[in-house]
Amino acid sequence: MLLRLATGAEIPALEALIRESVRALQTGDYTHRQIEGALGTVFGIDRQMVSDGTYFVVECEGEIAACGGWSARRTPFGGDHSPEKDDSFLDPAVDNARVRAFFVRPGFARRGIGTKLFEACRDAAKVRGFKKLQLTATLTGVPLYEVLGFTAESRFSLPLPNGDELPVVLMTKEV
Ligand SMILES: CC(C)(COP(=O)(O)OP(=O)(O)OC[C@H]1O[C@@H](n2cnc3c(N)ncnc32)[C@H](O)[C@@H]1OP(=O)(O)O)[C@@H](O)C(=O)NCCC(=O)NCCS
Repeated sequence: MLLRLATGAEIPALEALIRESVRALQTGDYTHRQIEGALGTVFGIDRQMVSDGTYFVVECEGEIAACGGWSARRTPFGGDHSPEKDDSFLDPAVDNARVRAFFVRPGFARRGIGTKLFEACRDAAKVRGFKKLQLTATLTGVPLYEVLGFTAESRFSLPLPNGDELPVVLMTKEV
């Protein structure tokens, strides 16, 4: 298993990986309409994270098995078209670093890749001086983040472009 930074050239392949991941792994938590409605806004790649060097891929058996990252910018979740896009920088002294956009290909789930992505994000955020992490978890992500020590702060639903809503959980953890 190799963890490295994602490159701009890989973005189309990563968008395809995201579609494959959510259409398979989220079916127990969300309806088809919710998943399709969230693709492209809530589920997607934020090019800013790739160019910041804060978005990772994990290669496994010679192929890209997963992607995920963290950010020192305010956008809390989502891709380039996140409804809450805000590229201004957080202040590590008072703000929580964002952990964002973890997607594992279905055939590689439950092999510790999500955990490995998290450890890389936590270590990088710590180097940048952040004391606390936050993420907006899908219902699918909650069991992983609970095991990693995150606490649920609030539950709410994100409005989707197709009129549906996506229930999510705001979670935090001390670095
Ligand atoms: C959520 C996700 C990233 C987890 O990735 P992963 O690589 O399978 O996670 P890990 O293998 O590191 O899991 C570590 C532990 O978390 C818990 N866990 C992870 N996924 C779980 C699940 N679906 N159900 C129950 N527990 C789970 C388990 O305790 C697991 O340990 P175990 O496999 O030894 O029992 C993956 O399911 C995914 O990509 N889902 C679709 C996209 C998505 O919703 N991403 C979250 C965005 S916030």
